[in-house]
Amino acid sequence: MVMEFKWLWFLRIVVLSVLLVWEGAPTDACLEHERIALLQLKPFFNHYNELVDWDEVTSSDCCQWKGIECNNTSSRLIGLSLNSTRYGDEGWYLNVSLFLPFVELKSLYLQGNAIAGCIENEGFAKLSVLSNLEVLELSENQLNDSIILSLSELSSLRYLSLAFNQLEGLSRPNDFQQLSRLVNLETLYLSWNSLTNDILFHISGISSLKNLSLRSNLLAGKLLHIQGLNNLTNLIYLDLNSNKIESISNQDGTQLRLTKLEQLDLSGNLFRDNTFSFLEGLPSLKSLDMSTNDLHGSLDIKKMSNLTSLKKLNLNFNQIESLQSSKDDGTKLQKLTQLEELNLNGNLLNNSVFASLHGFSNLKSLDISHNQLQGSLDMKDFDAFTSLRELYISNNQLKDFVIQKGGCDLKNLEVWDLSWNAFEGMLPHCLVNLTSLRELDVSNNQFSGNLNPLANLASLEYLSLSKNHFQIPVSFTPLVDLPNLKFLYGDENKMVMEPSFHTSIPKFQLKVISVSKCIPSQKLSFEHLTFLHHQYDLKFVDLSGNNFSGTVPIWLLENNTNLEHLILRSNALSGPLSLPSASSFNVSSMDMSDNKLQGQIPLNICSTFLHLSRLFLSKNAMEGNIPSCLSGMKNLSVLDLSNNQLSGSVPEELIMKSSMRIMRLSNNNLRGNVVHAILKVNGLKNLYLDGNNFSGEMTTTDVSTSEFLTSLADIDLSNNKLYGKLPRWIGNLSSLGRLALSNNSFEGSIPMEFCNLNSLEFLELSQNNLSGSLPSCSSPLNIQHVHLHENRLSGPLSLDFCNSDSLVTLDLRGNNLTGSIPKSISAFSSLSVLLLKANHLQEQDSRTRDTFRRR
Ligand SMILES: *[C@@H]1O[C@H](CO)[C@@H](O)[C@H](O)[C@H]1NC(C)=O
Ligand SMILES: *[C@@H]1O[C@H](CO)[C@@H](O)[C@H](O)[C@H]1NC(C)=O
Ligand SMILES: *[C@@H]1O[C@H](CO)[C@@H](O)[C@H](O)[C@H]1NC(C)=O
Ligand SMILES: *[C@@H]1O[C@H](CO)[C@@H](O)[C@H](O)[C@H]1NC(C)=O
Ligand SMILES: *[C@@H]1O[C@H](CO)[C@@H](O)[C@H](O)[C@H]1NC(C)=O
Ligand SMILES: *[C@@H]1O[C@H](CO)[C@@H](O)[C@H](O)[C@H]1NC(C)=O
Ligand SMILES: *[C@@H]1O[C@H](CO)[C@@H](O)[C@H](O)[C@H]1NC(C)=O
Ligand SMILES: *[C@@H]1O[C@H](CO)[C@@H](O)[C@H](O)[C@H]1NC(C)=O
Ligand SMILES: *[C@@H]1O[C@H](CO)[C@@H](O)[C@H](O)[C@H]1NC(C)=O
Ligand SMILES: *[C@@H]1O[C@H](CO)[C@@H](O)[C@H](O)[C@H]1NC(C)=O
Ligand SMILES: *[C@@H]1O[C@H](CO)[C@@H](O)[C@H](O)[C@H]1NC(C)=O
Ligand SMILES: *[C@@H]1O[C@H](CO)[C@@H](O)[C@H](O)[C@H]1NC(C)=O
Repeated sequence: MVMEFKWLWFLRIVVLSVLLVWEGAPTDACLEHERIALLQLKPFFNHYNELVDWDEVTSSDCCQWKGIECNNTSSRLIGLSLNSTRYGDEGWYLNVSLFLPFVELKSLYLQGNAIAGCIENEGFAKLSVLSNLEVLELSENQLNDSIILSLSELSSLRYLSLAFNQLEGLSRPNDFQQLSRLVNLETLYLSWNSLTNDILFHISGISSLKNLSLRSNLLAGKLLHIQGLNNLTNLIYLDLNSNKIESISNQDGTQLRLTKLEQLDLSGNLFRDNTFSFLEGLPSLKSLDMSTNDLHGSLDIKKMSNLTSLKKLNLNFNQIESLQSSKDDGTKLQKLTQLEELNLNGNLLNNSVFASLHGFSNLKSLDISHNQLQGSLDMKDFDAFTSLRELYISNNQLKDFVIQKGGCDLKNLEVWDLSWNAFEGMLPHCLVNLTSLRELDVSNNQFSGNLNPLANLASLEYLSLSKNHFQIPVSFTPLVDLPNLKFLYGDENKMVMEPSFHTSIPKFQLKVISVSKCIPSQKLSFEHLTFLHHQYDLKFVDLSGNNFSGTVPIWLLENNTNLEHLILRSNALSGPLSLPSASSFNVSSMDMSDNKLQGQIPLNICSTFLHLSRLFLSKNAMEGNIPSCLSGMKNLSVLDLSNNQLSGSVPEELIMKSSMRIMRLSNNNLRGNVVHAILKVNGLKNLYLDGNNFSGEMTTTDVSTSEFLTSLADIDLSNNKLYGKLPRWIGNLSSLGRLALSNNSFEGSIPMEFCNLNSLEFLELSQNNLSGSLPSCSSPLNIQHVHLHENRLSGPLSLDFCNSDSLVTLDLRGNNLTGSIPKSISAFSSLSVLLLKANHLQEQDSRTRDTFRRR
């Protein structure tokens, strides 16, 4: 009896749990039939094999698969993201019924799939049974107007994107009107299609619409369907960017009236209407973008006075000469007091602009870069802008400041860019009051003198002083007290020893210091930069071109374990290239070229800089071998060891490295046979091995040029001891732009295959033993410079291998060319150097030579 009861109890538990699994109640796994349906979809969307985790194994939980979102409680599929699975592919037709098993689907992303439409009777209308479907993303496909009608049935949609498709709106205007059945639609993206003005009329029935983008379509001229637009009474965001619209106006006087519109983007059109009268009926407008239009002359902003909510106005890149002065209509402009951000970059405004902006008392950001401000900047003009946070006046011709007793009254200013002007003299002393400044850019001016006015700008994080005539003290004294300074640019000024040399501990920890080409008034070493000893957070250091002496500042690397870029080029560092003993994982580029370093390249360079990608050691006096461990450095892509006294051979693997892009070993004493390695190049673009003792015979056997070899764009093997015939496979190097093989012992003729080098601009084969005639190409090369002097080329001077528009230099001196100089040469319009001496050419026409003598 007891046994029996237990047995029943057990049975009950089994049945219960089977039921639980069966009903798919609180379990994490996805539903079996949805899983099967996904596997049926998989072959259509797995072109790049990105759906690897869509696994056939039954235990695999499809809620965890890539692109799937499930409801956490019901485990039903609610989101399916299948974008960019067949991008750029040939168009194909979708069977929409494949999505029907997902009855609770909310969002379906099918972006970038080359979908050209649906198979017959399986159109999007089928999805209308999915009553939860709110988001349908169909951008970047190949859909045309024929898709619209079936989409109009999906009444649950809130978001529909058809951006980047092939809609025109002409063939089926009535279909577009059916979109009014999408009574829940809030966002409609139709950008990057070929829709024309009428679209505004056709979609005017979608009254729920809040967001509409028609960016980059073919809307043009006068936009007349104002009533259509006005019917979209809920519109908040309207993007008409990048069309060819000239105005929004209608003869019948209909006024644009969208009382909820907050954001309007009209940038990249052809608006000329300087009065903005069409904007009067947009009382909620917060942001207006009219940049890159055709606005010019004097801008009458009176009509803007109805835009009482406007916060952001962008008028970049027009030809505005002035703004209607507020004095004309002071009271009206007062209403624009909400304006916080005004962008006037790239216009034709002069200094009078400041007076006309006085009404905008709430302005936080003002950009008048790239205009025609000149002469003096009167700081009194900024009195009205007590809220100003950001001021951009770069790229004008301002020379100096007019400062009243009140000083620079911009106490809230946080960002000030006055670079690329003609400012001269000292920094204005009133800068001391701008204690909120976070970013100050005074680069590319003619400022001189000291940096004292900056000493108290405690908020400063970014400072650029580059390209002026400042005297930067070696101690960096006025700046070391700035506790928040992180980015310091001081290139191309002058470094000076101050009279009383004191070594205060800096309050800043810099991330970036770039103080190059500031040659000090007296000889200094890195040790003199005492503030640098206290930095431990540097990521980028450029102290090149300062003629600093001493040994390599290892401490800089040891102290700053985050250092990524160390540029100490063109100084006077001497002694060996010593390196820290501990590994550094972050250094990715190091440039010590043009110093006086001696000795061997240390063998621990590879273990120290594990992630080095760019190494420059040229123009030193390094000797010994190139460490073979360099070929094992995973990221090494640029290596310049040229102009040293390195000897021995080059590790073949270094040339063949797949990460390598630019390798320059010119002018050393390197030797050995590199030909075989060059044939196995695997990613290298630029290879410079000139000025060494490399030897070996160019193999003429037809190598099947790998796709890797074709990466080569620039090869210089000049001044070596290479020999043999020029191989015909060179003609397969389709990216080759420059080939220099001069001063070797190459022989034989120039192979016809050179005629295939369509990218070749520079050919240097002089001082070899080349014979035969000049190549005769069926279609000329766009080559610019041809150097073939001191060979044994014979036959007539035929010019059909080069294009008459491109050829600039032709040097054929010291060959054995015969016949006459072709008359056609006078048609070579760019030719400016023609050297034909020491051949056996006859002058047919003395005018030819005169022509080129004059050029
Ligand atoms: C998840 O499913 C439950 C039960 O079916 C439902 O109440 C809930 O609204 C769903 N949640 C979401 C985010 O769809
Ligand atoms: C489901 O749960 C996860 C993690 O708990 C959460 O991040 C996610 O937002 C939830 N999804 C839904 C639709 O509620
Ligand atoms: C792809 O789909 C996701 C939704 O999962 C979406 O957020 C995203 O913007 C889509 N587009 C791209 C280019 O990833
Ligand atoms: C479309 O998919 C459904 C569901 O898988 C299937 O029943 C139907 O036969 C398919 N239609 C065509 C034309 O392949
Ligand atoms: C639109 O697409 C459909 C389906 O791909 C195609 O049959 C039709 O020819 C296209 N129409 C136009 C005008 O391109
Ligand atoms: C409308 O577009 C804006 C800007 O792209 C976006 O921030 C907002 O979320 C969108 N609103 C809706 C309802 O989609
Ligand atoms: C705009 O709406 C009005 C009133 O609802 C209607 O009469 C008119 O036809 C609509 N106009 C357009 C262009 O849809
Ligand atoms: C502009 O504002 C004035 C005064 O507030 C008002 O009378 C006028 O109707 C507004 N214009 C439009 C087109 O709304
Ligand atoms: C500034 O430009 C306006 C309009 O072009 C012109 O009337 C005015 O004379 C100019 N002012 C100065 C100082 O050049
Ligand atoms: C700094 O501001 C104070 C108070 O506004 C003013 O008195 C002083 O002259 C200003 N200093 C300079 C150097 O402009
Ligand atoms: C940096 O290195 C120098 C020399 O080794 C040392 O005196 C100094 O304390 C170090 N500074 C930091 C911040 O580690
Ligand atoms: C130059 O060409 C002529 C005739 O083509 C030939 O006889 C002569 O040997 C050649 N001279 C040299 C140095 O190659």
